[in-house]
Amino acid sequence: MRESFLSRRTVRRLRQLLICTAGSIKIKLVLCCCIAFTVIALLSRASGFTGWTNRSVALERLSIPRKGYAIVMNTWKRYDLLKQSISHYSSCPGLESIHIVWSEPSPPSSSLKKFLNHIVQSNSGHERQVELKFDINKEDSLNNRFKEIKDLMTDAVFSIDDDVIFSCSSVEFAFNVWRSAPDTMVGFLPRIHWVDQSKGNNDYYIYGGWWSVWWTGAYSMVLSKAAFFHKKYFSLYTNDMSTSVREYVTKNRNCEDIAMSFLVANASGAPPIWVKGNIYEIGSTGISSMGGHSERRTQCVNRFVAEFGRMPLIPTTVKVVDTRNVWFW
Ligand SMILES: *[C@@H]1O[C@H](CO)[C@@H](O)[C@H](O)[C@H]1NC(C)=O
Repeated sequence: MRESFLSRRTVRRLRQLLICTAGSIKIKLVLCCCIAFTVIALLSRASGFTGWTNRSVALERLSIPRKGYAIVMNTWKRYDLLKQSISHYSSCPGLESIHIVWSEPSPPSSSLKKFLNHIVQSNSGHERQVELKFDINKEDSLNNRFKEIKDLMTDAVFSIDDDVIFSCSSVEFAFNVWRSAPDTMVGFLPRIHWVDQSKGNNDYYIYGGWWSVWWTGAYSMVLSKAAFFHKKYFSLYTNDMSTSVREYVTKNRNCEDIAMSFLVANASGAPPIWVKGNIYEIGSTGISSMGGHSERRTQCVNRFVAEFGRMPLIPTTVKVVDTRNVWFW
C-alpha cells in the first residue's frame, strides 16, 4: 500500500518535472528564435557597412556601364564643403565628369582650382580620368544650375548641392534606377503638393515638406539638390520654359527645384522616383529644413500652376530600395 502510494507520488512528481522541462524547452526555443532573429537583423544592418562585400562587388562589376553620368554641383562660397564633396564624389566609379556651377562675383582662385584638380586626378585611378570643369556665370541666379553645358559627354546628370554627401553605392544605385526611366527625375529627397480643400475649389495647392511625405508616404517631386535627370531638361528649362518662371526664380532666390519638377513632369507625364539612399549632410542645415520656408514654396507651386496652365505634378507612393540591403520580403 505504502509503496504504491509513494510510487504514485513519485510518478506525479516525475510528470510535473517533465511538464516543467517541456515548458522550459518551449521558452528556450522562443529565446533561441529571438536571438537568431536579432543576429540576422543585426547582420543585415551591418552588411551595409562591413561584410558581404562579395554580394555587392559582384553586381558592381556587372553593372558599370561604359557611359556613366556627370555631376553638376551647385556651390556658393563654401570652399571647404566644396573640397570635401568633390573629393568624395570623384572616387565614385561611374562618374565621367564634374561641373561646378560658379555664380560668385569673382572667379575661382587658382589655388582652389589647383587643389580640386589634384584631388580629382588622384581619385580617378588608371582606367578613367574624371574631367573637372568650372561653369562660370556672370549673373547670380539659381537658374544657373540648369544652364545647358556644352560638350556634356553623358546623357545622365546628377544634380547635387555642395553640402550633401551620398555614398557612392547610393549614387550608382540611383543611376541604375534612372537608366530604367531616363525621362523622369530620380532622387533621394521627396516632397509633395496637396490640394488645399479649405479654399473651396480644387485649384489651390499647398507645398508639403519632408514630414508630409514621412506621414503619408506620398510624394510628387524630388529635389534637384540630389537627383538624376536627362541632360535634355537643361535646354528645355533654359530655352523652352516660359521666361517668367525663370524670372520668378531669380527674383525670389527660391524654387528652381520646383520649377524643374514641373518641367520634367509636364514633359514626361510621369511621376518622379524616390530612391532610398544614405545621406550625410556636411554643411549647416540650410533654409530648406527650417520652418516658415514652406509658405514661400506654396506660393511658388501656385504661381507655376498658373504659368503651366495646369498642375503637371503626379503623386506616387513608389520607393525604390536596393535589394542587397534588404533581407526580408
Ligand atoms: C507642357 O507640355 C506640353 C505638351 O508636351 C507642351 O506643349 C508645353 O509647351 C509644356 N509646357 C511647358 C511650360 O513647358
